[in-house]
Order: sequence, then C-alpha cells, then structure tokens
Amino acid sequence: MLYLPASNARAIEKARALPADVVILDLEDAVAPDAKAEARQAAVEAVKAGGFGQREVAIRVNGRDTEWGDADIAAAARSGADAILVPKVSSPDDVRHYDAALAGAPDATQLWAMVETCAAVPALDSIAALASETRLSLFVMGTNDLAKETGVELTEDRRYLAPFLFQLVMAARAGGISVLDGVSNDFRDLDAFGKGCREARSMGFDGKTLIHPAQIAPANAVFAPSSEAIAEAEAIVAAFADPENAGRGVISLNGRMVERLHLEMAQTLLERA
Ligand code: COA
Ligand code: MG
Repeated sequence: MLYLPASNARAIEKARALPADVVILDLEDAVAPDAKAEARQAAVEAVKAGGFGQREVAIRVNGRDTEWGDADIAAAARSGADAILVPKVSSPDDVRHYDAALAGAPDATQLWAMVETCAAVPALDSIAALASETRLSLFVMGTNDLAKETGVELTEDRRYLAPFLFQLVMAARAGGISVLDGVSNDFRDLDAFGKGCREARSMGFDGKTLIHPAQIAPANAVFAPSSEAIAEAEAIVAAFADPENAGRGVISLNGRMVERLHLEMAQTLLERA
C-alpha cells in the first residue's frame, strides 16, 4: 500500500501505473498546513478521474481534532474512494465518529484506521470489535507517530516495538480484520527493507505500507504467496478432496501431519494468490 502526498501531482500520475495494490492519497502528515485545502481538492479530483486500474484508492484524512478533519472526511466521503484512512484512532468513540461521518458515502467505501497512539493500545480489542457493526475493515500501523509519542527507539530489528506490533496483529485477527505494517523511512536500503518485510510477514501482517516506488517490488516479493507455497496449498486441497480421505480429520502428506485447519489455511492462501 503506497502513500503519496495528495499535493504531488507527479506522484499521483506515476501511481496509476505502479504495481502497488493500494494507493493512499495523503492529506495528513505528508502535506504542509498551507497546502491542505489544495491537496484535499487534488485527492478528490484524482479519485474521480480514475485511471488506477485494479488498484484500490484511499484518501488519508486529517484527524477529527484538527482544523481540516471535518472538511476532509466530508469531501472524501463524496469522492467514491475505496476507503478512507483515518489517523490516530485511539478509542471506539473515534471509530463511531468516523463511521458516522461516512454515513452518506457509497456502501462499498471502507473505513481504515491508523493505530499510532499510546491511548489506542489498551483499547485495541474494543476498537477491533467494531468491525462487525461499522465500515472498519483494516488496521494500519503507524510506527513513526508511535515512536514519537512513546520515545520507543526505532531500531532496524524493531525489537522495542515488537510487543506492540504483536498486540496489534492479535487484536486485528480477533476482530476479523486485516492489518498492515508501518512504513520504513529508509527507502534506499532495500536489503534492510526486505528483511523488515519478512519479519512483518512472520509476525502475521497481511502487507506493508510504503513510501517510495522502490519499495514496491521487494514488498510484493515477500507478501505475495510464493510458487512453492501455492503448490503446497494445492496439494493439501487435493489430498482432502481425495475420496479416500473423506471424513478424515488428519492425514499424512509427504511425511507431515496435515489437519483440516491446514486445509482452511491452504484455501485462504489460494484465495489470496
Ligand atoms: N508515490 C509515487 N511516486 C513517487 C513516490 C510515491 N510515494 N515517491 C517518489 N515518487 C516518484 C518521484 O516523483 C520520482 O519520479 P520521477 O523521477 O519520474 O520524477 C521518482 O519516484 C523517484 O523519486 P525520488 O527522487 O527517489 O524521491 P523524492 O526525493 O522525489 O521523494 C519522498 C522522496 C520521501 C519525499 C517521497 O518518496 C514521498 O513523498 N513519499 C511519500 C511520503 C508520504 O506520503 N508520507 C506519508 C505516510 S508516512
Ligand atoms: Mg501518523
């Protein structure tokens, strides 16, 4: 999921052809105060103009506690964007507020929440639970803001951030929603970036948020199911489809125990692929 400042027309034009799954037109952190109104208009015009092909397009608005928040979400709700990404969600009340602000948006418009404040941490479960009764469908980790607020140092291996990352993944899964990892600021060191992506995948994240086109290929390489993983999933599906295994809860496949929970995992992987 690639961020770009909605005030950057050249980046918007490029994004229409880049192999990212989602384009985020940012009105928040990447846009200077003097450029907010212009960026808002540019984001809405970009969504209306289309040309993003299969990519989903989202607008990240300024928060409800800022002078731009209300105008942003009102404009974004009318834009026809696939999703509205809201920053600094810290309580169930925040989700309800933003969901209500999207009342007039098309049914398909989703609500995506940035998790990047200390206050959000103890409230994660109750925030995630709102996925069943609101448009909320995705958590996006905001590592830069969380580091700023907590003082947690952002080391390359993210060891001090890891407990929070795990908590976020668990809460997202419990609520049945997707979860994307935060950005990596260093867009020149792609080896370190690839390693960070593999760690994020191992932690359970569905994908990665990106700030630069150079990060797209390494992220896709890590988060897209590999051909080996697809072949293995197909073998599991085929094994359970074999009439000989009908009614069996557990089977042996190439020297490994495979249960029906692995069948479900294989089906999920194939859907994603
Ligand atoms: N989306 C689309 N295109 C982008 C892009 C992005 N996020 N970031 C850079 N590009 C384009 C540039 O326009 C440039 O295109 P060109 O050479 O055809 O003119 C090309 O990719 C190479 O860019 P580069 O010179 O390496 O970077 P830069 O110095 O122009 O920009 C940043 C660096 C960090 C300012 C820029 O990548 C950026 O704005 N990223 C997104 C920031 C953001 O949205 N943050 C909020 C979430 S944390
Ligand atoms: Mg932020």
